[in-house]
Amino acid sequence: MPVNRQVVLASRPDGEPVLQNFRLQQGAVAEPKDGEMLVRVRAISMEPAIRGWLDDNDKNYFEPLPVGGVMRALSIGQVIRSNLPGYAPGDYVRGLMGWEDYSIAGADTVLLQKVDIAEDMPLTHYVGALGGSGLTAIVGLDAIGRIKPGETVVISAAVGAVGHVAAQYARHKGCRVVGIVGSAGKAKVALEQVGYHAVVNYREAANLEQAIREACPEGVDVYYDNVGGPTLDAMLNNMKTFGRIICCGMISSYNRSDDPPPLYNMWQVVARELELKGFLLYSYGDRLPAALATNLEGIRAGWLKPIENKRVGIDQAAELFCELMSGRTTGKSVLEMDLPEQVG
Ligand SMILES: NC(=O)c1ccc[n+]([C@@H]2O[C@H](COP(=O)([O-])OP(=O)(O)OC[C@H]3O[C@@H](n4cnc5c(N)ncnc54)[C@H](OP(=O)(O)O)[C@@H]3O)[C@@H](O)[C@H]2O)c1
Repeated sequence: MPVNRQVVLASRPDGEPVLQNFRLQQGAVAEPKDGEMLVRVRAISMEPAIRGWLDDNDKNYFEPLPVGGVMRALSIGQVIRSNLPGYAPGDYVRGLMGWEDYSIAGADTVLLQKVDIAEDMPLTHYVGALGGSGLTAIVGLDAIGRIKPGETVVISAAVGAVGHVAAQYARHKGCRVVGIVGSAGKAKVALEQVGYHAVVNYREAANLEQAIREACPEGVDVYYDNVGGPTLDAMLNNMKTFGRIICCGMISSYNRSDDPPPLYNMWQVVARELELKGFLLYSYGDRLPAALATNLEGIRAGWLKPIENKRVGIDQAAELFCELMSGRTTGKSVLEMDLPEQVG
């Protein structure tokens, strides 16, 4: 009998997640009921957002995961059996599914959609540069940032999953692109692989606000904020009048159980007439086909070079997520599933 290997939440993390918060178990492969399908999970997107679902509070935009529950993530898989009209065996689907070999998906699966896999693209790209993080980069810069050629764009978590795609797109659009990173190794990747014009290492800068000013002497038109916290505070004093701040995420406080540090420079939103706007990709469904086409074209044309931090095998899932949440990763963290015994 084929088994379904699953990663469950063993205990709630206190701060940064550790391996002991997760447990690998074996369960039975479920039978899809009417309106459901059995999906073999092929690649799992490891994302900072998952951290928010592990706390038992109502601060997140998704329900908290129960202790003992199967971990979930935006994943891509292949339909094995289908009782859901419109979906057939062999179809590729993306949606919120379990960290497991086989998931049951149905019409109420969050973000469920059929995906056409281009023959010249690796499957993992569809949870990376051609998936949530890559499309978030494009939608944020276009819909919220409204970037224009010649503008200065600053991006934090600059070589992360969202950041490294955002940088390459903004550069392709003719912007000057400046990255904010957390290590010398990442600074090197930012300049040599991603193509940033300049980079600031916030861990080494004696005065972050000043270091950003030196990298952007004429001020910043658009700030793509992935981290919030003191970096956002330092950016507020570096924006040009009418600058736009794309509030994509605030990872600097995801691992904190206490209150995040205060922002001291909010007055600059008024003084410099800034736009500060949050967004969630889920609300911009109408923009996704064009964003996908942009990134496909970018990879084929060579202006977009996705970086993946890939691991293979479900036994690597927890370690990969902990690595992501420790801030050590570069590029998109993606788990490619190993091949379980096939369900016929
Ligand atoms: N709005 C949306 O729809 C949407 C969609 C996808 C992602 N997001 C958000 O976008 C942001 C980036 O996500 P991503 O998937 O691209 O992640 P990522 O950048 O690949 O990885 C996280 C990076 O964040 C930085 N970081 C800063 N403070 C940190 C801390 N206290 N702990 C851990 N990491 C820290 C680290 O880079 P440095 O060392 O360089 O600082 C780390 O490598 C997140 O805030 C995420 O929630 C939003």
